[in-house]
Amino acid sequence: MRSNARTQYATNTKVSRLAKFDVVSIEDLETSDIERIFALADGFAEQLERGEQITTAAGLIMATLFYEPSTRTRLSFESSMHRLGGAVISSADMQASSAAKGESLADTVRVVAGYADLIVLRHPHDGAARVAAEYAPCPVLNAGDGSREHPTQTLCDLYILRKKKGHLKGLTVALCGDLKFGRTVHSLIYALARFGANIVAVPTSGMDVPDYVLERLAAERNYSFSTVTMDELKSLAGGLDALYLTPSAPHQMALFTGDAALQKFPTGEPPAALDAFYVTRLQKERMSGKEAGAADYVRFDARALRTSKTHEAVVMHPLPRTSELAYELDADPRAVYFEQAAAGVPVRMALIAWLMEKAAVASASTRPAAQPIRFKAEAPPRCSNLNCITRFEGAHLAPRFTLGRSSDSNVFALKCGFCERELKTEYVGHARSHRYYRFDENLQGYVQQWIEEGSLAVFDSVKQAEEGGYEPYKRGPQREIMNEDEVVRAIESLADQVIADIVDMPAVSIVGVVSRGAMLALRLRELIGSKTKVFPPCAALDAYKPDDALHPIDGADNFVVEDRTIILVDDVINSGWTVQRAMATIWQRGRPGAVKLAVLIDRGHRAVPIRPNYVGKNIPTSRTERVQVRLATGGRDPKVKAHDHVTIYSIVEPMKEPEAAH
Ligand code: NCD
Repeated sequence: MRSNARTQYATNTKVSRLAKFDVVSIEDLETSDIERIFALADGFAEQLERGEQITTAAGLIMATLFYEPSTRTRLSFESSMHRLGGAVISSADMQASSAAKGESLADTVRVVAGYADLIVLRHPHDGAARVAAEYAPCPVLNAGDGSREHPTQTLCDLYILRKKKGHLKGLTVALCGDLKFGRTVHSLIYALARFGANIVAVPTSGMDVPDYVLERLAAERNYSFSTVTMDELKSLAGGLDALYLTPSAPHQMALFTGDAALQKFPTGEPPAALDAFYVTRLQKERMSGKEAGAADYVRFDARALRTSKTHEAVVMHPLPRTSELAYELDADPRAVYFEQAAAGVPVRMALIAWLMEKAAVASASTRPAAQPIRFKAEAPPRCSNLNCITRFEGAHLAPRFTLGRSSDSNVFALKCGFCERELKTEYVGHARSHRYYRFDENLQGYVQQWIEEGSLAVFDSVKQAEEGGYEPYKRGPQREIMNEDEVVRAIESLADQVIADIVDMPAVSIVGVVSRGAMLALRLRELIGSKTKVFPPCAALDAYKPDDALHPIDGADNFVVEDRTIILVDDVINSGWTVQRAMATIWQRGRPGAVKLAVLIDRGHRAVPIRPNYVGKNIPTSRTERVQVRLATGGRDPKVKAHDHVTIYSIVEPMKEPEAAH
């Protein structure tokens, strides 16, 4: 997907000597572009060697915006601009810039584009470079965005690999270590696939190449590769004196795992030899404490190059290294990591010069980006990746999704237009008929049609669908499972459970999930108040309107979360998604002392580990059944006749009647 076709916010009014061409992903560059950049790099390397003064970029200014630490990338970018005769401006530490005052990335890059002709950005959030590229009227080069990509490092890696091996096609490259968070690895994988190299992934346990990378490779390059364990790689590399890649001595089992390892190669043939090892550091800064401590990480030393299958291999590393690469390797001519780092200058000079060439050619054509899906829903979907830039630039950045490529046909998958992660949703809706459906493969065709007509809605729970006014596709016969007396008794039981459990009632506040949870919250408040003489403050929470989520419903002006004992109330709990969302919304408002969950009905089927503290009634149901709670309005007013009752009905799935889905 090219970033360059979508510059919807960027308006370039000044005449620029650089093309408005953004390198967000290595896939933004055509193969011919990469070839040209390498040819230019060769020329610059020679000129630098001869000590020539170069003035190609005289008069141009590059801004480096680094929101994360960097040595090589930033200094080589800055050096390359100086070597080209251009100038560099930089904020020594983005934490010391207006970012510390809460300025959005979108604003920062628009401002900086007024001072510079080119922006180089490093940022901790996945997809940040895409946002910068769309807002900045000048070209943006991605110097690493979260765990997503680092395309200019890949240019350096490929440049050196090709220099050492003479070609890229047919090479076999073992990628070792943290392949999950290592952004240099992700860009490199796309590039190796494109140039026809073979990849053997050797991830540290739990650090596999993410699915979104694999799916993109499969869909766009029809490419896949084998993943082997460290032990399997050792046995493939040929016997007892093979690879010593981990601190632990290779155990004998490694000798006998060959067959299993062979099956992992699509042709049944292991590589005849390895041409390169690409070793990476554990990306600790992107992990929770637990993950960071758990890894039994690769340790690569000179012995790994002593086998018949590896003695021609070069050892690569994007650097910085920690303990995964022994210093004893440094003197070995096959250790090329310092050359990769040194290539940063001619290669990045070449990239800047190439942007100048591109500006001179008026007909720079760009592939159109995939059209994002237009959703019809109160709440459009949100990216589920907590490190996605849309989670941090939410105020101005509308989430954007295209169809995902999930291999499971019963899952409706969307792909985030910024971080590329997949979002899997269970319920889809058709806006014109106001019906919702649990997604399965029989709906694929309909959903496609709804996307085309702009009438697709997606929901992450039945509750969200129904609060949005959607009805199930078709109901089976209804049956009452709780009458008015039973509902009233269940609510009273809830109130009694709360009173028995809570020691400090004045510290309690009640939050009801819109709409029936909020009605229940008021009724609980009245019951608790009449029995304890303490009427807790009460609020209604709409978990699907995160910006405007909490409203006092007892006449108070504001509702305080901080340090309160919050009782979260809902009518029915099933999967738990709504409650989870509601809890997240409460935490965004402040840090409560405690949160307790009260539900009128618990149906089971939890998808998230949440257990209610107070339950009116347990009603085990099947997944296709729907429990509907109806509550009388009127609250404390004794004159209003109550009509509380609970019904159950089954949802007829369209797969049973495929021809009739709306
Ligand atoms: C890498 C990065 O920042 O992603 N370093 C680099 O740019 N050469 C790799 C790393 O930090 O491990």
